[in-house]
Order: sequence, then C-alpha cells, then structure tokens
Amino acid sequence: MQALAVIPSQKRLDLLDIPEPKLQGATDVLLKVHEVGLCGTDREIASFEYGDPPTGADHLILGHESLGEVVEVGQEVHSLRPGDLVVAMVRRPCPHAECRPCRAGRPDFCLTGDYTERGIKGADGFLTDYVVEDEEYLVKVPRALVDVAVLVEPLTVVAKAADQTHAIFNRLPYELGPQRGLVLGAGPIGLLGAMALVADGFETLVYSRDSEESKQAELVRSLGADYESSTSNPIESLADEWGEFDVVLEAVGFAPLMMAATQMLKPNAVVALTGVPPEAGTTELNAGRILRNLVLRNEVVFGTVNAGRRDHLSAIRHLEQFMILFPESVRQLITHRAPLDEVPQMLTKKRGIKEVVQVSHAA
Ligand code: BGC
Ligand code: ZN
Repeated sequence: MQALAVIPSQKRLDLLDIPEPKLQGATDVLLKVHEVGLCGTDREIASFEYGDPPTGADHLILGHESLGEVVEVGQEVHSLRPGDLVVAMVRRPCPHAECRPCRAGRPDFCLTGDYTERGIKGADGFLTDYVVEDEEYLVKVPRALVDVAVLVEPLTVVAKAADQTHAIFNRLPYELGPQRGLVLGAGPIGLLGAMALVADGFETLVYSRDSEESKQAELVRSLGADYESSTSNPIESLADEWGEFDVVLEAVGFAPLMMAATQMLKPNAVVALTGVPPEAGTTELNAGRILRNLVLRNEVVFGTVNAGRRDHLSAIRHLEQFMILFPESVRQLITHRAPLDEVPQMLTKKRGIKEVVQVSHAA
C-alpha cells in the first residue's frame, strides 16, 4: 500500500510503498483510513521545520487529523466492531513511571516531553490506506457525522480550550452574566472556536487578516457572529471599537498578536492561546502595563495543546450541535478534498480553509 512520508535526512516528501499492517496485540484494531485533514503542523513538517520519524526510522508518515473505519478487531476489543467510524487520538503517553498525567491517560499534559504524536513526533501518522491502533486511542463517531467527522481532531483543540476556560471561570465567586468572546484567526481552529462560542451563547467577534469579503468573513456572519478584518482595523484599536471581552481564543501563532490579546480583556477574563508561534523573533512591548493589568484585573492567560479523550467526546458532541445549528457553515469549512497523490502540492500551496485528503470512500 502507499503512504505519504517525509524523509528529513534527504529533505524529501514522497509516496512510499509499505507493507499492509496486521493485528498484533489482543486490543489492536485494524482501520481503513477514509479521510485525513491537513493543517499548519503538516506544512511545517513538510518543510522540514518540525516533526521526527519513529526511533530508528528514516521517514515519518504524515497525517494526524484522521477518520477511519474499523475493519478487524483483536480478541480483547470490546467497544468497537467492524464498520464503526473512528477518530484516532494523536498523542501517546511517555514511558516514565513518574509522569502522572501520562499515567492518568492525559499525555496532552505530559511532564517529560517524551510523548509521541502520530504523524508528528516519533510515530507514524494516517496518510496511508490501513493503520493498526490500540482500542484505547480510538474514539467512535456517529455515522450521521461522516461527511464532517474529519473536523473532530482540530475541534478537540477547541474543546480542550473551552474545558480549561470553564475550569478557570469556576474560580469566580459570583454568577456569570452574558459573555462576549473574541476569536483571533479565521483558520479551522478559529472558525470552529467561533462556532463553539456562538453555540455556548457568547456574543462573538472574529478578527483575522482575511478581507471583509472573504469566504471566512462570510462564514463567520452565517453563524450570527461579527467579523472584523485586520486590514481595516489594527489590533490596538479593536477594543476601542468593539469593547472588551470575557474570553479571547487565539488561533494564529503570531507573537505580537498573542501579546495584544492580553489587552482586550474585561476584568476577570481569560485568554486561551492555541497558536504555536516561531521561537525566533522578538517584539517590543510594554511589559509593565501588560503585567499590571493582569494583576489589577485578575486576568488569566493560558496555553493549551493537544487533547484528552474527554475533549474528543466533547468535540463530537459539539459537532453534533453545530450540525443542528449551522450545518452548511460546518460543511463549508472543508474547502477541498483530493486524493493521496496530491498531498505534496496541497502541502506546499495553501488554499481555502480546511483541505482534506480522501484516502478511500466511506461505505
Ligand atoms: C495537533 C495536536 C498536536 C500539536 C503539536 C497540532 O497540529 O492538532 O494534536 O499536539 O499539533 O504537535
Ligand atoms: Zn493539526
């Protein structure tokens, strides 16, 4: 069968011929891969800036936003059977006995950094015809979601950010009133985040570099949210026009914008950072003002990466809700579907919102 892999030592991105995997352990599940979403992480790996092959291997099979169908299960698999649709979790725990989060099944909070991530770090991904995965890392998805379920993995990032935000709000000793949310960025995470905020009853504004006439802006308005382009309003004057926010969800990964996010807050408000900025690059800022505001206004800024099983279940529930509230907007997030052999072009030239690789067709 074929697999799309990077060979970092040769700076090569290519389709390889590899043997079909077989069930080994009793809790193994054989999956036929249907779809794989591509994101900025894949583009970084494809340009050899990020990502590591499995130990001892020279190549890394790409793809972490998966949707597959169960073909065969080991003797001890009880929660899944052939024909089930599943999304695979991305991160696998580190091996260290003292890492409490990994031992508790939450490698997304790993303390050692020795976790692996399928398609990203030390473990092969899903851009191939068949994969074997342990039952423990598979999450069943209702058939009714088949045409949008490839969005579950990016939505888990939003679901975890929402869960953490709720936990932070729980510290407040009074009943919260109506809330206002700001989303920075109109890529898949930002747009899914806007959907989650709208669905949760937030008055929502999305701010991004896409123009007011863009597909992204149109999609935001179709949710009943507001859209503002950075081309017409710099971030520094955003709060003057729109007021301050209870929650800011950042999904850009641009350091100056991430810093500016801390200046958009109401007292007691929260910023969730999900974009991964490049390490290089400094930015001039008024640290005194930023830190003074954080203290005098009880604000919280936190980062969040990856997601646990509970966030996957929450993402699926969110997606079901979105498909009731704004099904067309959800479908419009997926702007391209193309076969496996087109991945190299898809990864070098970004178009649209979410590009999806159609590895095989769902039954
Ligand atoms: C993936 C996460 C992963 C992160 C860091 C993201 O693109 O969606 O699952 O943890 O990259 O590697
Ligand atoms: Zn991703």
